[in-house]
Amino acid sequence: MSRIDFTGRVAIVTGAGGGLGKNYAIELAKRGAKVVVNDLGGSKGGIGSSTSAADHVVEEIKGLGGQAVPNYDNVATVEGGGNIVRTAIDAFGKVDILINNAGILLDSSFVKMDEKKWDTVIAVHLKGTFCVTKPAYLAMVSQNYGRIVMTTSASGLAGNFGQTNYASAKMGVVGFANALKLEGAKYDVKVNVIAPVAGTRLTEGVVPPDIFNRMGVEFVVPAVLYMCSEQCQDSGIIINAGLGYFSRSAIMTGEGVILSDGNKIPTPEDVMENWGRITSLEKPRFFYQLAEMSPEWRR
Ligand code: NAI
Repeated sequence: MSRIDFTGRVAIVTGAGGGLGKNYAIELAKRGAKVVVNDLGGSKGGIGSSTSAADHVVEEIKGLGGQAVPNYDNVATVEGGGNIVRTAIDAFGKVDILINNAGILLDSSFVKMDEKKWDTVIAVHLKGTFCVTKPAYLAMVSQNYGRIVMTTSASGLAGNFGQTNYASAKMGVVGFANALKLEGAKYDVKVNVIAPVAGTRLTEGVVPPDIFNRMGVEFVVPAVLYMCSEQCQDSGIIINAGLGYFSRSAIMTGEGVILSDGNKIPTPEDVMENWGRITSLEKPRFFYQLAEMSPEWRR
């Protein structure tokens, strides 16, 4: 088995002042990467800012003999994203790895969901992913190499009460990765997605304490580090990771049913009658494989 080594690589980890991001940054540095530790240093709900979160992680990495620089910009602005990537290029000359990890929560039932909570959460998770990825991607394209990891959530993949804003943002990131993996392919820029489960300030109080205590962030790190490595040749993969369990999530399409000869327009009653077959997920395929699914389809 080849060892995963990041010597000579430059990585940016957003939201690396605590939680998962901190651990990604430290483990990347331990394996030789030069790391930009970005963190705005605000509260769980995105209020305020501070330089201390990023500074502490940089000190910790340096104490371990690694190389890191801090950055305190907000991922949710184009200017912030540009500064984060410039920090990497000024300090270390390039960008090979980007982990879009920064995140906040502003939960409320949909009845109480307002425009501010909606916009703020979409801004950090979805627009923030755009703002940092754009300049990082340009740098990666110019060197014909890059590894990008985006962060989704079971909240988006499966749904979660009180998180319409967050779930939407997190599924937006999945669509983003689906499209960018195609554009990045010819430049060896791989774009993968992590759906973590970890005990951090975001999940504290949400899951029972006995489970929370077993949800160490370190259990997520190996999946993310592999997806950041040269060895990872896949792109567009969503990996669920937590408590030592790893699996893949994917959006699949059922076999479906053909209700027309190409001329007759099916009626709503035809759809009702065939609802079971239309909604069946037996013999699932990826959407792009639809044409090869049913012999009838090829008639
Ligand atoms: P955390 O709150 O410990 O870490 C998030 C970090 O992002 C914080 O240090 C925060 O200061 C920083 N941040 C927030 N807004 C920022 C901004 N605009 N610009 C720069 N930095 C900013 O939370 P955790 O759990 O480590 O979350 C990391 C990512 O994983 C988030 O995207 C979160 O949505 C996602 N996630 C976490 C799960 C979990 O079980 N902990 C589950 C699913 C997804």
